Amino acid sequence: THRIIIDADTGIDDALAILYAIHAPEIKLEGLTTTFGNTDVDQATDNTLRLLKLCGKETEIPVAKGAAGPLKREYEGPVVNVHGHNGIGDAVIPKSDQQPLPVSAAEFLVRMANDNPGEITLVMVGRMTNLALALQMDPSIARKFKKVVIMGGTVLAPGNVTPVSEANLWGDPEAAAAVFESEVPLTVVGLDVTMKTRLTYEHLHLLDRKAPERNKAMVQFLHDSLGVYFDFYRQSNYFAESCPLHDPLAVLVAVNPSLVKTQTFKATIDCGHGLTAGMIVTDRRARATEGRDIQFCMEVDADRAVGQMLSAWL
Ligand code: BDR
Ligand code: CA
Repeated sequence: THRIIIDADTGIDDALAILYAIHAPEIKLEGLTTTFGNTDVDQATDNTLRLLKLCGKETEIPVAKGAAGPLKREYEGPVVNVHGHNGIGDAVIPKSDQQPLPVSAAEFLVRMANDNPGEITLVMVGRMTNLALALQMDPSIARKFKKVVIMGGTVLAPGNVTPVSEANLWGDPEAAAAVFESEVPLTVVGLDVTMKTRLTYEHLHLLDRKAPERNKAMVQFLHDSLGVYFDFYRQSNYFAESCPLHDPLAVLVAVNPSLVKTQTFKATIDCGHGLTAGMIVTDRRARATEGRDIQFCMEVDADRAVGQMLSAWL
């Protein structure tokens, strides 16, 4: 089993990633940390606790609340057009009585890495602020994670906030740069592969027909939450009948690297303020010099990835 912590700005695809991790037999979910992005950090934390309650896990899996904004910039505010007013597509699920831990996300990450060296896989599916803060507190933790898998950025595919930048890196470039420059064993699951890994209405109908009784409330949540997300991708002329599984793919790859083909490039993050802010600059020259070696996912077996996610719920 994979011992995993997910750090999320709990929006719609983050919720899918968390729900996969909760149900996947190959995963032991060691904790959830929250951050700003799709929604503010208080809402992201509330959403995370509600998802655990929905699955009856609220007393089993600790939640630590993280950063409210970027290291050096202003938080641009919730992305209502993609994730709805409450971050989870305006789906209403019961509030949890549980509270987040009395420590910050960064403190939790430091403690978990030090207490379990070489054991924990950290999957970050929002801004990388919490890990950047954790590395400031204790730089030695960089070598104590088994793996760090991030959903963020793009190598060859277009960006989704600027022509070249993806939201999770654009939203806190300095944090991303700190993570890229650190010694964490990093795998990047970016738009090159997440835009090709998509959920359709047929997948939802399959869940309607085949999911066991105990997962019915979760499947209802998927319906209630995903409408806004499908609408966004249709209205913005990306995809008529499907939506990308950005954040779930990062968790899927963390447990099953055979889903993707990777390439290693030296890479840095543009920390400027112009059109290329938050861009991953991969040095693909024969004699590359800029940045450290980072593993990028370049191709994906999308059918198998989606199948792996659905099978956790069937
Ligand atoms: C990423 O940005 C967030 O809004 C999504 O949850 C995903 O992590 C996609 O660019
Ligand atoms: Ca996310």
